[in-house]
Parts: sequence; C-alpha cells; structure tokens
Amino acid sequence: MLLDPFSIAPLGSLKNRVAMSSMTRGFAGPNHLATPEMAAYYGRRAEDDVALILTEGTIVHLTGDGYNNVPHIETAVQAKSWAPVVQRVRSAGTLLFCQLWHCGRISHSDYTGGVPPVSSTDRPAEGINRQNGKPFGTPRALDPNEMTTIHRQFVDAAQNALSVGFDGVELHFGHGYLIDEFLDGSVNDRTDRYGGSVANRCRFALELLETVIGSVGADKVMVRLSPSREMEGIHDWPDMGAMLDYLVPAMSGLGLAMLDISCARSDYALTSGRVIRMVRPHWKGFLMGGASLSQEQAESEIRDGHLDMVTWGRFLLANPDFVGRLRAGAPLEEFSRDMLETLR
Ligand code: PHB
Repeated sequence: MLLDPFSIAPLGSLKNRVAMSSMTRGFAGPNHLATPEMAAYYGRRAEDDVALILTEGTIVHLTGDGYNNVPHIETAVQAKSWAPVVQRVRSAGTLLFCQLWHCGRISHSDYTGGVPPVSSTDRPAEGINRQNGKPFGTPRALDPNEMTTIHRQFVDAAQNALSVGFDGVELHFGHGYLIDEFLDGSVNDRTDRYGGSVANRCRFALELLETVIGSVGADKVMVRLSPSREMEGIHDWPDMGAMLDYLVPAMSGLGLAMLDISCARSDYALTSGRVIRMVRPHWKGFLMGGASLSQEQAESEIRDGHLDMVTWGRFLLANPDFVGRLRAGAPLEEFSRDMLETLR
C-alpha cells in the first residue's frame, strides 16, 4: 500500500505514499538563492521515487529570516533560482511544494536586516539561537494594522513559487515560528482580538490562510501544524482539544484541503500520532504526518485510515535511495548529525 501508486484530491496521481518533510539545510547561495547542488539533492530523492517533496523552509521576506544561508522566495530572482529544482523534481514525476516560512521571534536582528523580529508578543523566546550563539532577539509585537503586511508577504511568496512551477505551497504554521506564536497560548499574551480566547488566537492564522487561498486557490495550499511537539520536552498547545475543535473546521470552511501534522523530531505516538487521532474524525481532506516511522507502522497508519501519506525527514536525509531500500527490503542507514554537513 505504502509503495503503490494512488490518486487523491487535490493532488491527483502520486507514485506512492512516501513524502519528504521540509528540513532546514542552510546551503542556499549568495542572496539566498537556490543552487544547482540543491537541485541535485532534491532530484536524487525524486528520481528514487519519493512521491511528494516539501522543500526546506523558504523565507517569505527578509524580516522573517532567522537562520544562516536558508533560501528566500521574496523576489523574482530568488523565485527563478528554484526553476532548475522544480524542473529536475517534476521531470521525475514527483510533486514539489515550497514550504513558506516566517521565523517570527525565533530569530535575531542579525538575520532580519537589522530590525527587531516580529511576533505575537514582545517577550523573547528562551534560550540561545544556535545560529549565531546569541540569545534570541527581543521581538516587537505586531500591531493589528500590520497583519495585512504579513499576508502580503505570504501571498507574494506563494505567487512567486507558483510562477516557477511548484505544484503548491505549504504554509508553516508550526514549530514555534510566527503563526504558531499566535496559536500557542503559552506564547501569545495579547489582549486584543488576536489573543486570549481560542477564536482570537486562531484569528491571525485564519485571516492569513483566507488571504492566501483567495489569491492562489485552495488546491495549491497545504498547512503544516504542530499542536504537540518536541520543545525541550513534549509541548502541547494550551487548550489543544478546544483549539483543534475550532481551528480544523474553520480551516476546512475556508477551503483548505491539505494538512501536514508534524512534531519536530519527537515520538509519533506521543505527539503527532495523538493529534492525528483527534483531527481525523473532523477532517475530510488530505492528511499526512509521520516521525521516523517504520515501514510496518507507516503501512498500518495508512491501512487504518489515519494518514493518506507518510512523511519522513531524517531517514530521507540519511538514505537518498530510501524508497529503493524500502522496495528491496534493504536495511536503512541511521541518521547521524555529521550527515547535515553536506547536501548528500
Ligand atoms: C531547525 O533547523 O532546527 C528547524 C527549522 C525549521 C523547523 C524545525 C526545525 O520547522
């Protein structure tokens, strides 16, 4: 089942049910351009028959960056640099989505062109930014009249991505970045209509989603959520059940048809697997998730109707020939951190 072709709306025909998660790599060229090495890296996975690839997080606007050497898709030149990646992946019959990323307060003015990062809050994230070894920057809480500026950044980035042939975009609503900073009641401390109640905490995400869907169409838009994930221990959104009961039908009501539930490297059963079991009964659309599942676990999640496709990150980094190995029943290389040093 996992390795058999299938068809699902709105994606259409897929080679199998294996998807590559978005993973930060930090190999973009000068001016945050995609490079030929990146085309080869994604191309190897596509040619090995990964059916759907989500790019590494791609920054929608300079003021949303927070990392060294990650790609941007703010300008036409940046968008064009992705054309060879798109061409190589799509000629292997693999679908390619661009993950659109705004880091919010998981950043520092070193990365944003010198301005303070923006967030739902003016409280900095705890800890040290491993990118520059400094504490995370003190953010500036967005003013309600600035929300449309952020919408515009995502719309422009989505249009840029589609203009160079991506099959769609994934909006990164997870992992403690900008959108999650509104959804997560342990971060969002606002007292205006963007904070407080469940509906208020969901407002920023829903307005953004409505604007992007209105601009590029629901069949091009996927959302990544991580209501339960690793964050120095397992972290769940406060009111997770009430949030999901409100947010999931509301996103569906806006036409959203594709959802990716992730957990940032944690245990599936304790985090995203649990969330998927809460969401699935209320969600008629396409759903994918995973966290280094075994082939048997993946097959059983699909067979039991929990997932339509299964995402892998670390196994796909370690094994450019992951699908071939699954087909052959060959052992998989284990991931190790030194593998991050090159685009293998
Ligand atoms: C990371 O580089 O550690 C990272 C980046 C983006 C994510 C999660 C983790 O969504």
